[in-house]
Amino acid sequence: MFSTLSQLALPLLHALDPERAHELTLRALEAGLYPHAEGLDDTRLAQSVMGITFANPLGLAAGFDKDARVPRAFIDMGCGFAEVGTLTPLAQRGNARPRVFRSLDDHAVINALGFPNDGQRAALTRLARRSRARSGVIGINIGANKDSRDRIGDYVAGVEAFAGVADYLTINISSPNTPGLRDLHGVELLDELLERVMTAREEAAQEGRTPPLVVKLSPDMAPADLPETVHCLERRGIDAIMVANTTLTRDGLRDRDFSGQKGGLSGRPVFERSTAMLARVFALTEGRMQLIGVGGIDSGETAIAKIEAGASLIQLYTGLVFEGPPLIGAIKTAICGHLSQNGFQSVGQMVGRRAQEWSDKYEDAT
Ligand SMILES: Cc1cc2nc3c(=O)[nH]c(=O)nc-3n(C[C@H](O)[C@H](O)[C@H](O)COP(=O)(O)O)c2cc1C
Repeated sequence: MFSTLSQLALPLLHALDPERAHELTLRALEAGLYPHAEGLDDTRLAQSVMGITFANPLGLAAGFDKDARVPRAFIDMGCGFAEVGTLTPLAQRGNARPRVFRSLDDHAVINALGFPNDGQRAALTRLARRSRARSGVIGINIGANKDSRDRIGDYVAGVEAFAGVADYLTINISSPNTPGLRDLHGVELLDELLERVMTAREEAAQEGRTPPLVVKLSPDMAPADLPETVHCLERRGIDAIMVANTTLTRDGLRDRDFSGQKGGLSGRPVFERSTAMLARVFALTEGRMQLIGVGGIDSGETAIAKIEAGASLIQLYTGLVFEGPPLIGAIKTAICGHLSQNGFQSVGQMVGRRAQEWSDKYEDAT
């Protein structure tokens, strides 16, 4: 959905239907038509998170490369990591089209895709081909089939399928486009889900495969439920929490036609809410758990704010749709500038510095 050759291509892509533009972009990336980042990252950007070394904290969010076609391209363009998926055990088509909408006015996207993907086996074949020797972290985001009779079993299948090829696995319980999926935030179901995926991981560990597990939360959770949910994740030994997925709320949108579309909203309008929720999770865990912040990052400033609110790692999707690949370098340059200005030796020193401030906004916002 964004320019691969130059910013000149962005207006052209924006004139196309969003899904068509996205497919053209994926093909261009598959063909190697993208700008390569020059040189190595500033060493101050490196961090160990979940026991993995990340060359920089900026990653591609799930949903862009659902079928693991081009994760390498994002590493080449300068991302420290790329998350592929959401992948479900069986291939599925997703919801009826049109199901992706953009608003230039609001710098936002609404999608009601419903996890269209080629299924785990196809992705596994692609991922198994990749060279493990090359740098760059690849996360795999797993979900449940819409018609599954045992949704929790689908997550277990995801862990079993990908434990050997994923650097980390994200359990996505937060898409608003698969009816009932977000019920898995309820502590009883969540606890059962976590018990079963942790058991699956322990079994994989006996064969030497132990990817860290991340759980991706919805920004639409009732704030009153957040402490119990976070406590459950911590108790079950989840390695990191990702905040957050798209929202069903429509606060702050200017574009009326756009705001009437069905699906999950992402981009600039979700920044405040997802950042405040992230900070609240940071406060609840008192920094004991590492967090991945996603939602509305579209500049160096918003990336810095997300880290200072508590994110050890950050991801973006919608910002790339509007700004294109130069955003990747711009964010890293801004973070380095911020480190120099404040006399910090590494990005880790920024994490959570303003968590209290942002966490208070979560209360204000709800
Ligand atoms: C078109 C589209 C498809 C998405 N698909 C997925 C998905 O399959 N799995 C997932 O966990 N998140 C998915 N997301 C959510 C993003 O990963 C991210 O959490 C959200 O868009 C907020 O970040 P952003 O404002 O930078 O886009 C999708 C987002 C968009 C815009």
